Amino acid sequence: MLGLEVDTDPRWVEAASTHVDRVLMDHAHCEMKAASNALSLSARCLAHPRVARALVELAEEELRHFRRVLDELERRGIALEPPEEDWYAAELRRRVARSRRGLSTDDVVIDRLLVGALIEARSCERFKLLAAAVSEREPTLAAFYDELFVDEARHHRTFFDLALEIARDAPRVRARLVEVSAIEASVVRELGGAPTIHG
Ligand SMILES: [Fe+2]
Ligand SMILES: [Fe+2]
Repeated sequence: MLGLEVDTDPRWVEAASTHVDRVLMDHAHCEMKAASNALSLSARCLAHPRVARALVELAEEELRHFRRVLDELERRGIALEPPEEDWYAAELRRRVARSRRGLSTDDVVIDRLLVGALIEARSCERFKLLAAAVSEREPTLAAFYDELFVDEARHHRTFFDLALEIARDAPRVRARLVEVSAIEASVVRELGGAPTIHG
């Protein structure tokens, strides 16, 4: 799905669907981090005004997602607690940075956009799995995750398109996406299946 090389382990689906409250808590933090990541990236793209603007719009949409997850937590009477470590995202960024050949600002930004594309793709895959797993027990929550799937799939495409716009070299960006996908798969194979969005 969306360029992902490996599927999520079914044990994650089992854990996530039996600990939905913990997933939602982590999910809220993911949306907030997605918004702040898009904003900080936009500040690094000032030489590419269209890219910077698209990232600000993406940040605004992630903030709306954040508010909606907060609404869901409130509906369930759950108070937001400090975030758990997101080893998946941190390790993905570390491994991608280690594999980077070019050192220009654009090389760094292109990698960050491609990492963003992969994180969106993985979130999509997991939202779909979670929606299917809870559809009978919690149809409203399943509908929410189905709706987010559509938005995050679009973000996946947006990140890739923005990397293309900066690089103006489609074969190079596609080749780098293949490398980043392989790195993402290597990180996913080491996940323990905790009931968090990237567990
Ligand atoms: Fe989002
Ligand atoms: Fe997103």
